[in-house]
Amino acid sequence: MESILFSEQEIRNKTSETGNYISRKYKDKPLLIVGILKGSFVFLADLIRAIDIPCEVGFMCAESYEGTESTGEVRITLDLKQDISQYHVIIAEDIIDTGRTLKAVADILKERNPLSLEIITLLDKPSRRIADIDADISLFTIPDLFVVGYGLDYNENFRNLPYIAELR
Ligand code: IMP
Ligand code: MG
Repeated sequence: MESILFSEQEIRNKTSETGNYISRKYKDKPLLIVGILKGSFVFLADLIRAIDIPCEVGFMCAESYEGTESTGEVRITLDLKQDISQYHVIIAEDIIDTGRTLKAVADILKERNPLSLEIITLLDKPSRRIADIDADISLFTIPDLFVVGYGLDYNENFRNLPYIAELR
């Protein structure tokens, strides 16, 4: 059973604000937005359409979850093609839970010396944090709930819901 936490309209409003912020901050700068697959693909698709400056998009795939419990292990199964030392980089993440996935990805990208690195997450569950990492911007902060929809899955299901819902 699911109950809606954030509607399509609420998500659209926050995404639009974030797109405006990015457009102002990175005007006339080489910008690469890195989506962490698979969960961020819906957010990323809407976010880039809320940005009105030139930008490139890249993808990394980091996997750490089975069912509703983190295994603690992060595997990078797809990497960027771009040389990121030429770009201001924004990581677009679906959700930061323990923070292990994002910490692993952010550490790898920092070693490659981007011009700057900023982390933007759709959702943040700060009460569950284990790794020492935070987003620069989170669109929504939630308590310790398991959520699905708008790209987020439970065993690969529910990614197609246009809203964010709690799964119970
Ligand atoms: P972390 O490494 O524990 O921060 O986990 C991050 C990843 O776990 C996210 O990118 C999601 O794929 C998944 N995840 C964490 N919490 C949820 C949730 O509430 N719903 C769906 N996926 C989640
Ligand atoms: Mg997932």
